[in-house]
Amino acid sequence: MKNISNSRRNFIKKSSTALAGFYIVPRHVIGGVGYTAPSDRLNIAAIGAGGKGHSDIINAWSDGINNVVALCDVDSNMAKRAVEKFPKAKFYKDFRMMLHEMEDDIDAVTISAPDHIHGVAAMSAMRRGMHVYVQKPLTHNIYEARQLTEGARKYKVVSQMGNQGASNPGQEQLKKWFDEGHLGTVDTVHVWTNRPVWPQGIPVPKPGAVMPEHLSAKDWDLFIGPAEMVDYDPLYHPFKWRGWWNFGTGALGDMGCHLIDVPFRLLQLGYPTEVECSVGQVFTRDWVPEHIPEGCPPSSSVQLRFEPSKINNSSIKFNWTDGGIKPFHPDIIPADHDIGESGSGNGVMIIGTKGVMTCGTYGLEPKMYKKDGEVLTMPKDFESVNPYLDKPEFGHQHAWAEACKAGYDSKEHQSLTSSFDYAGPMTETVLMGNLAIRSYGLMREKKGRREYYGRKKLIWDGEKMEITNFDDANQFVSRPYRKGWKLV
Ligand SMILES: NC(=O)c1ccc[n+]([C@@H]2O[C@H](COP(=O)([O-])OP(=O)(O)OC[C@H]3O[C@@H](n4cnc5c(N)ncnc54)[C@H](O)[C@@H]3O)[C@@H](O)[C@H]2O)c1
Repeated sequence: MKNISNSRRNFIKKSSTALAGFYIVPRHVIGGVGYTAPSDRLNIAAIGAGGKGHSDIINAWSDGINNVVALCDVDSNMAKRAVEKFPKAKFYKDFRMMLHEMEDDIDAVTISAPDHIHGVAAMSAMRRGMHVYVQKPLTHNIYEARQLTEGARKYKVVSQMGNQGASNPGQEQLKKWFDEGHLGTVDTVHVWTNRPVWPQGIPVPKPGAVMPEHLSAKDWDLFIGPAEMVDYDPLYHPFKWRGWWNFGTGALGDMGCHLIDVPFRLLQLGYPTEVECSVGQVFTRDWVPEHIPEGCPPSSSVQLRFEPSKINNSSIKFNWTDGGIKPFHPDIIPADHDIGESGSGNGVMIIGTKGVMTCGTYGLEPKMYKKDGEVLTMPKDFESVNPYLDKPEFGHQHAWAEACKAGYDSKEHQSLTSSFDYAGPMTETVLMGNLAIRSYGLMREKKGRREYYGRKKLIWDGEKMEITNFDDANQFVSRPYRKGWKLV
């Protein structure tokens, strides 16, 4: 890390403090109403400028109060809209080159490339002292999540994961009801999703698909990044990479950080201690299920166990289902009420001794069903602590950009809803489900018969990041990294 880039970042912080404290002539007189001194602007770059990256960089730019100085995307077509929106930004295809060449000019990066890129890109930015906004799930595997959590502290950067529902006042409402004692002690949680809504549980594409003209072999190599090299296929890029372990994290990775976030935050959960799962099968011939270890399954059911937390005096059975499988309607909720979010295949249900709390994705539509028959809903005039609710996505990216300017450990940083101190352990929990699913798929043939030797309850030592009763599962804690793409 060069000192000069740190001094630019310190300058941003110090100069805004100085301006606030010592200017005799008010700033709006010098610069006009709405004037923002250049030193108050954050220089941001995007890694992944198409797909979600497009709205992430626009939201962090915040209607021009910050500068977008660089954009990086392996696919110029995907990045086209962002490039047109920010014509002065330097365009790169290789984020390693961008971070190296513009080390002195970039204060902060949004990382919205596919999941397998998050860890290496974020670590590479953080060690240069750049603040990071990383899409959910924070990382592709548990080890990376732990490394990023520790990295953000070590390099003293402001971090935020892109689970924007963390900034939704719906979650504040749920906490208020919990703190007021309406829910009682919790022993069961259900979280469910309609994902996957892309091809998943399908055979591995055969090599030989024709690459679109605008993509080169070099672009594809950059897309692959730390993953294992496979030929281009439209079933990988764009968007569908989600369904393949080489790049994505399946249904859990897609929705877990939005949905599991709610009970994990509310109940202040720590690392899970056990995980167990079962997985939907696919048959293209009689009796013999497809075996596709490269692909995430079409549906799964996962149960995690949590020990009592500081604020919940019971262990918890935490149930996750995907592929459209929902939990059954509890008696306390009237039969004609949607559980979770109306008309959506996603939801959260937290079962306590005094009632049941429900909500949808991002903590939308919070409800508290009490055993005495009363149903609490969120009042329209609910007073949120979030000052940025006029901004897109609950101001999640905007709040991060403001915290970057205020600096590491500032009040603004501390009030972020998903900095890595929180988002890292939460993502680890989400990815525990995937560790169990991949272990469940372990198979060997013995005398012509298949043996699925990983289908067992797994015991987890969170501190050590280790499955203690089945060592084969530990291969899924991390991944092999392709040469040139280490997590450093
Ligand atoms: N928070 C949310 O609501 C939300 C919504 C959608 C996606 N996401 C997350 O955003 C990320 C991207 O998902 P998406 O749906 O936009 O995928 P996508 O495939 O549509 O877009 C990914 C973009 O990243 C680019 N890219 C791929 N590899 C790259 C690399 N090595 N360097 C730079 N750019 C690269 C692609 O060309 C593309 O422009 C994922 O982690 C996903 O989980 C979050």
